[in-house]
Amino acid sequence: MSEIKAASRVLVTGVAGFIGSHLAERLLSLGYEVVGVDAFTDLYSRERKLKNLEGVLADKRFEFVEGDLLELDLRELLQGVRSVAHLAGEPGVRRGWGEDFRVYVERNVHSTRGLLEAARASGLHRFVYASSSSVYGPCGYPVAEESPRRPASPYGLSKLAAEEVVGTYRERGVSATVLRYFTVYGPRQRPEMALSRFIESAMRGEPVEVFGDGEQTRDMTNVSDAVGATVAAQEARASGAYNISGGRRVSVNALLDLVGRAVGEPVEAVYAGEIRGDVRSTWADLGRAERGLGYRPRVGLEEGIASQVEWALAEIPEERLAESAV
Ligand code: NAD
Ligand code: UGA
Repeated sequence: MSEIKAASRVLVTGVAGFIGSHLAERLLSLGYEVVGVDAFTDLYSRERKLKNLEGVLADKRFEFVEGDLLELDLRELLQGVRSVAHLAGEPGVRRGWGEDFRVYVERNVHSTRGLLEAARASGLHRFVYASSSSVYGPCGYPVAEESPRRPASPYGLSKLAAEEVVGTYRERGVSATVLRYFTVYGPRQRPEMALSRFIESAMRGEPVEVFGDGEQTRDMTNVSDAVGATVAAQEARASGAYNISGGRRVSVNALLDLVGRAVGEPVEAVYAGEIRGDVRSTWADLGRAERGLGYRPRVGLEEGIASQVEWALAEIPEERLAESAV
């Protein structure tokens, strides 16, 4: 373990979430101290988020703070912290068109501003912001970081606004960088995301709902790769934005075939209408991430799906599988 790591205390916001919990585990395994904060927002259950934390709560180098970034004393939270990985936020591209746009603005934009303001005062070494491929909207592919940002969803708009806030604070002296994750998957994936829903439906032997014709494509990122990039961004001096993806496009229909093979049963699709907020395709140009962060995706899609299926088989209670699908 290097001296820097031994002395390093990292704040992970959104630590009880899908990606945040994996990041905390990785940082601890690398020798960092971690303080994690989470408000247990209601997108999915508190019980599930507490389970996400099982791997870290017993570690003496992990401190958990339950609280909302919009309410906590952030200067106090940052005391002794060397770098921040800011993952807390309201995710999901298919909601937020009505009154709940306010939730996206508060959890994605205001919380980021507050944290950066406190970071500016604390002399932080590094601030890494978890942004999204959703800042791009429809565009030419593969998409490079300087491509036009035209979000197709309220969520994408709020993440783009947060990126702009990060840029403002970078000009005011905070050493900050932005990672644009592309559709992250793996064990503990959020329950409303495609692969989670497809695997659980396949395990129940029920059809899955596909939005549109299923020929839309995603450049999906294994959570282990997303976490590796986040650790690298935290140590690198590189600034600006970086695409982080798996580097291979897959259609939703092809994903269903892969899930069927991994679960051992073919998956039946029911085609529903397209959903507002969805983009037709995502596909990242990873050149900048490779040059600036040494990033290269390591986990192949088949291997990654197999590990998510294995996790789901172990974690999803039999009673829940016996219930009828929601
Ligand atoms: P998640 O919902 O599992 O985790 C986010 C966590 O943040 C939750 O546990 C929630 O309780 C917490 N949180 C939200 N607002 C908070 C606040 N104000 N104070 C304290 N805690 C708060 O989501 P995830 O999939 O792990 O995503 C993590 C981050 O990565 C998000 O910022 C998301 O926008 C971004 N991202 C995710 C993906 C993906 O495919 N999962 C892709 C691109 C970007
Ligand atoms: C995901 C995350 O949910 C966002 O938080 C994130 O910011 C975004 O990736 C990103 O890359 O930035 P999305 O790509 O929509 O968004 O992820 P999934 O929920 O896994 O959906 C993938 C595809 O499957 C979409 O085309 C969606 O329409 C489709 N889908 C999803 C279905 O056909 N059926 C479902 O039940 C769920």
